[in-house]
Amino acid sequence: MTKLEQIKAAEARLLVPTYDRNPLLFTAGEGVYVIDEQGERYLDLLSGIGVNALGYANPVIENAIAEQSRKLIHISNLYFHEGQAELALRLTERTGMDRAFFCNSGTEAWEAALKLARAHAGLLRSEGKQVGTKFLALEHSFHGRTYGAMSTTHKAKYREPFGPVVPGVEFVKLNDVADLRAKFSNDVCGILVEAIQGEGGIRPLTQEFFAEARRLADSTGALLIADEIQAGMGRTGKWCAYQHYGIQPDITTLAKPLAGGLPLGAVLCTEEVARSFHAGVHGTTFGGGPLACAVGIAVVDAMEKDGMLARNAATGEYFLEKLRGLKKKHDAIVDVRGKGLMIAAELDSADLGKKTVKEMLKRNILINCTSDTVLRFLPPYILERAHVDAAIAALDEIFTEHAAGQAATASAGGQQRG
Ligand SMILES: Cc1ncc(COP(=O)(O)O)c(C=O)c1O
Repeated sequence: MTKLEQIKAAEARLLVPTYDRNPLLFTAGEGVYVIDEQGERYLDLLSGIGVNALGYANPVIENAIAEQSRKLIHISNLYFHEGQAELALRLTERTGMDRAFFCNSGTEAWEAALKLARAHAGLLRSEGKQVGTKFLALEHSFHGRTYGAMSTTHKAKYREPFGPVVPGVEFVKLNDVADLRAKFSNDVCGILVEAIQGEGGIRPLTQEFFAEARRLADSTGALLIADEIQAGMGRTGKWCAYQHYGIQPDITTLAKPLAGGLPLGAVLCTEEVARSFHAGVHGTTFGGGPLACAVGIAVVDAMEKDGMLARNAATGEYFLEKLRGLKKKHDAIVDVRGKGLMIAAELDSADLGKKTVKEMLKRNILINCTSDTVLRFLPPYILERAHVDAAIAALDEIFTEHAAGQAATASAGGQQRG
């Protein structure tokens, strides 16, 4: 039995069966590559689902972890430490927000955002305003797996086994302004969006829809809440994807690459929203700990120093251009979209989506397929054009073989009929 087979068998016996893992055992990483137990290197175009933005074995992250771990790893939120205000300053400056709350993951950040919105609506009611408790979320949305996050996530398969879900959530058709207007009322306390939906298939909001969500929220005192857990932290070429629209939400959430692979989430909000929380109403044991914050600070500073935003925009444009070239050549690609290093190639069938991920794996390249038919690329920010070229060459080969296979099947079918 290989080591992978042993681990696979042990997990099958010991773990709650939540994951359908690819049969690979990774033991190390370097730059844009992860390395399996045989020493095989894989080009990682998914970066741990958008987490390992600065690449593997980055000395900036390693040094921050080493230094802080020798000083203080955990202290709880009963006491001060040096990291939270330092990181909050960096994040508020870059997101246009006023205040931060730190937690351990994306879903927790989203959960805090929902709690803030309901608490804020309560505060407004106590001040005589008419704002209800309902959330408007979007079709194809994904916000995480805890109850509030799951309840505002559109895909039924994520919610149905766990009902009853949190009440007071209605889904609006993506980019359908008329549907948004029809469903908005004084009952709504928050409109929930991803400026570019991630799990939903790299689908951007239209300018018109986003602007109307802002306008409607302003008309009653409801909040506009933008989930930037996947699109934020510079991935799209700006710190937050909403900055491409010139629209400022009342609350935003960050996580994924924030602490270079350590668990850290942040909810950021305006002064107006922050006044709905006071000491004791929300909290966490681990959230915003000294270790994660020290790494978060190092990540933000390294991104700035290395000009990552401009770099992501430029490499992303190169990647998109190459994918558009492939689309012209291969009918199987029906759409190419994205911004910066948040990129999708939508295929004409779910079977081809699965097959392409497997074929890329055979060529030592990691990608995934989301929303059944959408190949998703969330590469590390240190990606270079040569890596893009390697990925495009592999995709070209796969789609060429696929087309040849289809032609052969069609001609065999034709001969049989003839
Ligand atoms: C937009 C968005 N929100 C929330 C989450 C949940 O984050 P986490 O898995 O860290 O809980 C994700 C994760 O993929 C996400 O993409």
